[in-house]
Amino acid sequence: MDSADLPPSDITEAVQHTLEELGIHDTPRLQELFSQLANQLQKDMAQLAETGAGEPEKLEALRVRWLGRKQGVIRSINDNWLRSASPELKREIGQLLNALREEAERQILVVKRAEGIPMTPAPVTVTPAPVTARWSIPEPTVFVTGALDITLPGTRRAVGVRHILRRVMDEITEIFFSLGYSVEEGPDIESVYYNFEALNIPEDHPARDDQDTFYIDSRTVLRTHTSSVQIRTMEKLQPPLRIIVPGKAYRRDTPDATHSPMFHQVEGLAVDTHITFADLKGTLDYFLKAFFGPEVRTRFRPSFFPFTEPSAEVDISCLFCGARGCRICKQSGWIELMGCGMVDPALYPHVHYEASRYSGFAFGMGVERLAMLKYGVQDIQLFFQGDVRFLRQFR
Ligand code: PHE
Repeated sequence: MDSADLPPSDITEAVQHTLEELGIHDTPRLQELFSQLANQLQKDMAQLAETGAGEPEKLEALRVRWLGRKQGVIRSINDNWLRSASPELKREIGQLLNALREEAERQILVVKRAEGIPMTPAPVTVTPAPVTARWSIPEPTVFVTGALDITLPGTRRAVGVRHILRRVMDEITEIFFSLGYSVEEGPDIESVYYNFEALNIPEDHPARDDQDTFYIDSRTVLRTHTSSVQIRTMEKLQPPLRIIVPGKAYRRDTPDATHSPMFHQVEGLAVDTHITFADLKGTLDYFLKAFFGPEVRTRFRPSFFPFTEPSAEVDISCLFCGARGCRICKQSGWIELMGCGMVDPALYPHVHYEASRYSGFAFGMGVERLAMLKYGVQDIQLFFQGDVRFLRQFR
């Protein structure tokens, strides 16, 4: 056969002959031959895209034509060109053949993926990426025709939401921002000094008992409340100060529907001259109405905390029965919500404040409790299980 006759009308016909028969002896001619094959592959794929990419039989026919074990183009090149080639051309053919095979495999795989055709019957060998490229961003897959079909549906990515506890903490902070408060933070791993001593919690107080506290060593605990940040802030800032502290707290509680060994609190502290209990009441009443709704009423009951004097528990009128009495408020019409009080003057020497000059109030609330009441969550464990069916309800 005269080489001038090339290419045969169907280039894939040429692979049935040896290179000798085709009259090809040098690299440039060989490369031309392979580029014709690559063009033919493109044409086949384009035709498939137009006439039946969705039909598995047509794709299979194309696969057999190129990658078939017996008569496929790749196989034929191997048998007819490579085997009998001169040693100089062998290397070249091997490389070109590999490239062509990979391209055919890749293109077929792309169509299969795009059309959702299962990866049978013949498993496609995908060449693993070189180790150095393992972390690189994969090249975007271009549709087989080489054109980008912008009418295809895009890759839908699930959009996350703020965790409900984060959202509730943000809601709380927003309200206090509007009252001129700013946010402070402190460490979860806390010294006994900040967690207990400086807060006037004596060594023999039940809160210090092993039952309630995770000790890391005898001087270090996982903070049992965010009140430790009261001391840290007063050490750092001079009055007037108004801060809140959203954060985690830890107690040795057995998990159940209302207890978790890790939970969240928002602490509040205001210190200035002339701060009174009326300021405390007004602030918390404003906050609770802003958070739960204007119809909510508040009640302050005498209580005790070592670091506030006087101290109080704050209740709100039951949201579920309009304070008539129900199972949730245990027929009392009131729901206990948070602790508060006037900063005990015994704390001021620890932070070098002049006790005769300043007064202040502090409060601390459990975020999970507020979230459960506001959003009707029955089990505190739901917050920490990471079940998206629960979490996605709070968009
Ligand atoms: N730290 C207390 C608790 O965890 C709450 C509190 C904070 C009470 C501030 C009074 C003042 O129960």
